[in-house]
Amino acid sequence: MSATTDSQELGSTLVTGIGELVTCDGSTPDGLGLRHDAAVVVEAGLIAWVGPAAQAPAADRVVDVDGRAVLPGFVDSHAHLVFAGDRGDEFAARMAGTPYDGGGIGVSVAATRAASDDQLRALVAARVAEMRAQGTTTVEIKSGYGLTVADEARALRIAREHTPETTFLGAHVVPPEHAGDRAAYLELVTGPMLAAAAPHAKWVDVFCEPHSQHAFTEDEARSVLVAGRQAGLGLRVHGNQLGHGPGVRLAVELGAASVDHCTFLSAADIEALVGASDTTVATLLPGVEFSTRSPYPDAAGLLRAGVSIALATDCNPGTCYSSSMPFVIALAVREMGLTPGEAVLAATVGSAKSLRRNDIGRIEVGARADLTMLDAPSHVHLSYRAGVPIARALDL
Ligand code: NIG
Ligand code: FE
Repeated sequence: MSATTDSQELGSTLVTGIGELVTCDGSTPDGLGLRHDAAVVVEAGLIAWVGPAAQAPAADRVVDVDGRAVLPGFVDSHAHLVFAGDRGDEFAARMAGTPYDGGGIGVSVAATRAASDDQLRALVAARVAEMRAQGTTTVEIKSGYGLTVADEARALRIAREHTPETTFLGAHVVPPEHAGDRAAYLELVTGPMLAAAAPHAKWVDVFCEPHSQHAFTEDEARSVLVAGRQAGLGLRVHGNQLGHGPGVRLAVELGAASVDHCTFLSAADIEALVGASDTTVATLLPGVEFSTRSPYPDAAGLLRAGVSIALATDCNPGTCYSSSMPFVIALAVREMGLTPGEAVLAATVGSAKSLRRNDIGRIEVGARADLTMLDAPSHVHLSYRAGVPIARALDL
């Protein structure tokens, strides 16, 4: 979801007049690597030069951003975009006191199975465009609303049209037709469904949640992840969302790249995440806490303890129907104790790490030219001006 081939054929582009360049390159003690009155040269889709505007080299095209802030495009490392229908009624009921238990996922599975390929393709394209219009330049997209061999493969094929970061989530819930026989569904997920999905996927994920009868136990989740790894996929885990549980422990044990939600963490979970901070990122999804009236995890405490954290939307029809990384950043600052700078780092370089990528999420020579501009002078405005559409990905 990055710069177009047409524009890349234009030669080099000088982006100048950058009032605040947030490189996220680690060159300052806070990691933000802020530069003022800076310029960036982009060529062939990559960053070719970064420095003071007064020393910028000539380029084929000049884009003057007139004192605005520029930062790495947001990396939304957790999203479920391949679905049809919505569950606004479920959200309204939740706001009236009905708790979330994952049962509504079946409603989205039925609507998604009933959608044509063209309908599904159009829905996903619209959601990806909505993200880009809010500054997201990389998105991870999960399957998980098909839950048959053909429907999961279809979801991943469509997702692959937008991103290399595709995730097989056949183990989202046990679908209704297998409700009486979980073992048979697990055989399907780890056998023929995985075989059909793996050619289109980079990752495998599982909803490991003993607090939901619809999701998977620790042992079931382990079998899904081990099978995915044998099929060549990297590991991601939905864990510790609805209550304390085994998700974090399992993710760390298996060397998963990310364990996502982390709403309910024990001291032992935090210790495990600290020990695994080079390998396993705790991806926080505060839009879910917002949309499910759950307690927000203490992101600032996790950072201070030494946990690697990321921020993502979890955009999905159930627990967070928001595609907005600026909204997530604002929530992380207001509700989870992060500074505006820490939240930007978690939404860029942190989420890039959770995808095991170092070519995105930072502005430095050789990285992808995924730049996001704010209609504001500073990254602070992302949370300061919450709800105002100031961020957009630059088309270079
Ligand atoms: O990440 N918890 C599991 N999966 C999604 C919600 C899916 C849904 O409710 O449709 C999540 O929160
Ligand atoms: Fe999710």
